[in-house]
Amino acid sequence: MSEIITVIAPVNIAVIKYWGKRDEDLILPLNDSVSATLDTNIMCAKTSVCARPEFKEDGIWLNGKKESFYSPRLQNCLREIKARAAAEKSVTEDFLQWKVHVCSENNFPTAAGLASSAAGYACLVTALAKLYKVKSDVSSIARLGSGSACRSVYGGFVRWHAGTNTDGSDSVATQIADQTHWPEMQALILVAGDTKKKTSSTVGMRIAVETSELLKHRIKYCVPQRTEEIIQAIKERDFSKFAEITMKDSNQFHAVCLDSYPPCVYMTDVSHLVSYVIHKYNEISGSIKVAYTFDAGPNACLYLLEKDVPQVISLIRHIFPSSNPDKFVTGLQSKEEALSP
Ligand code: PMV
Repeated sequence: MSEIITVIAPVNIAVIKYWGKRDEDLILPLNDSVSATLDTNIMCAKTSVCARPEFKEDGIWLNGKKESFYSPRLQNCLREIKARAAAEKSVTEDFLQWKVHVCSENNFPTAAGLASSAAGYACLVTALAKLYKVKSDVSSIARLGSGSACRSVYGGFVRWHAGTNTDGSDSVATQIADQTHWPEMQALILVAGDTKKKTSSTVGMRIAVETSELLKHRIKYCVPQRTEEIIQAIKERDFSKFAEITMKDSNQFHAVCLDSYPPCVYMTDVSHLVSYVIHKYNEISGSIKVAYTFDAGPNACLYLLEKDVPQVISLIRHIFPSSNPDKFVTGLQSKEEALSP
């Protein structure tokens, strides 16, 4: 009988967005991406795994509900971890035959659609790696679950290299700087809507790759330079450069979504109001104090320095007076606020 292994993994929010795959099965991206990993104290996934000879079949429970284990992504992750364990001879042959049970939950509102699959798969793969005593890097296995999950395997600031190998062996995440590097950096999560997105990221990316001219331009002429520049800004703790690139990349990602045919619309009027307010605030401040970024949904992640958090929270409460202060969570230290204009 195996012990029960429990791990937690954080959410990450990209500042250079991954959008578009060069291989859909192996989940290999067309471009490099960069993200910040949020503090696990507040926003994380928690997963427990265990393998036993008496289990009749593999099983998974997500937020207390039994789900099907037969999703190809889940199967790929388990198969790869077992293959590594077999190659590393880290567990016995018998152990590899036992069925596994997985129990996972998020400690943040799943409805908010905040990169929960990234945290979830990073967590699952890390837990399975511990269960099967796999020693080698598992970010490429987390990638098989959800592309962006490979970045949640590390804390601080992380780069996911697109790589060029067809087998995906060089499409891995590496840490740019750890969580202690820029302690003043904070993330404020603004929940602008909790409805499920109309177009999944898998489908949205496929349409973009097939139809968007702007995506081709972005990958060839914009992302490579931006990636180098934002890494430099992170290393030098140059907030205004970091913020400018973050906002430009979010805007270009959503422009690519609109350039897709049929278009994918993820931002709402509330999202656009947040973006407008941040630009006005930066203009009045005389320097860039806050950056916004939006994933494939309406919710904003604001990056800002700790000293500016109180004023920005007051501003948000002023613009969105009925936002619920109970929804604030502190946590890269993140805070979360539900918006209703
Ligand atoms: O890893 P996925 O399939 O959830 O796609 C993530 C896509 C974005 O969140 C929009 C961008 C990113 O790099 O995280």
